[in-house]
Amino acid sequence: MFRDVSSCNTYNYGEAGYWDARYIQEGGSFDWYQRYSALRPFVRNFIPLSSRILMVGCGNAVMSEDMVKDGYEDIVNIDISSVAIDMMRTKYEYIPQLKYMQMDVRDMSLFPDESFDGVIDKGTLDSLMCGTDAPISAAQMLAEVCRLLKPGGTYILITYGDPTVRMPHISRPVFNWKITLYNIPRPGFQKPESSTPSRKSYLEPIPLTEKGLLPADFVLEDPDSHYIYVCKKINDTEIENIPAYQLTADVL
Ligand SMILES: C[S@@+](CC[C@H](N)C(=O)[O-])C[C@H]1O[C@@H](n2cnc3c(N)ncnc32)[C@H](O)[C@@H]1O
Repeated sequence: MFRDVSSCNTYNYGEAGYWDARYIQEGGSFDWYQRYSALRPFVRNFIPLSSRILMVGCGNAVMSEDMVKDGYEDIVNIDISSVAIDMMRTKYEYIPQLKYMQMDVRDMSLFPDESFDGVIDKGTLDSLMCGTDAPISAAQMLAEVCRLLKPGGTYILITYGDPTVRMPHISRPVFNWKITLYNIPRPGFQKPESSTPSRKSYLEPIPLTEKGLLPADFVLEDPDSHYIYVCKKINDTEIENIPAYQLTADVL
């Protein structure tokens, strides 16, 4: 498993100094890839409102604020950048449901085992995958995510990485995750009229092959779309015959 160079402009995405400088320079807020409104059906379906949630690599995104507006009550946000964390802590002082802590996802030992019902990652594993020690960093981060999830809890990974570059990392048997894959177009993408979609709706999971790859006949409408990996930490008693996840109408 190598460094994933497909969308890395720089090795620096894995380094705190790079992000500190960027947040000082840019300020404000920015959501990578997608806003909560597009991700809501997935988040609401797989992570109940009463959950204790960990947002890994929160940056200066509005996602957690939007989730609180939607009814979530307890979101712990971490980031390696102390600049981002200081900015966000000040900005959201008035929202007690949001907590901000400077922390490296590769070592979250401040949190006890099984302390979260849900973990959300939008672009953070991707950043680590651009770093110099990408495979080691990814393995450390994912082991920590798995340790922190309660049995039955869910890790939602939002990424540009297709299954060839992400499944080798997240499908390791030691994690015991039941993985369901979705794909959504980038915001503002216009479907070509001639296109023949593989699915009726973006809310339908993509059936993975036995090797954990996209089916041969899968048509990617938007080449710059985003993948959503829903990884459920299963109990030993649940291992057999887990039904495919269904999105329910009440969150659509
Ligand atoms: C691509 S940005 C995504 C930010 C935010 N999640 C969003 O959706 O807009 C990646 C974030 O991961 C953070 N990051 C990178 N390496 C990290 C690490 N080892 N531990 C914690 N955060 C990290 C960066 O500081 C940055 O804020």
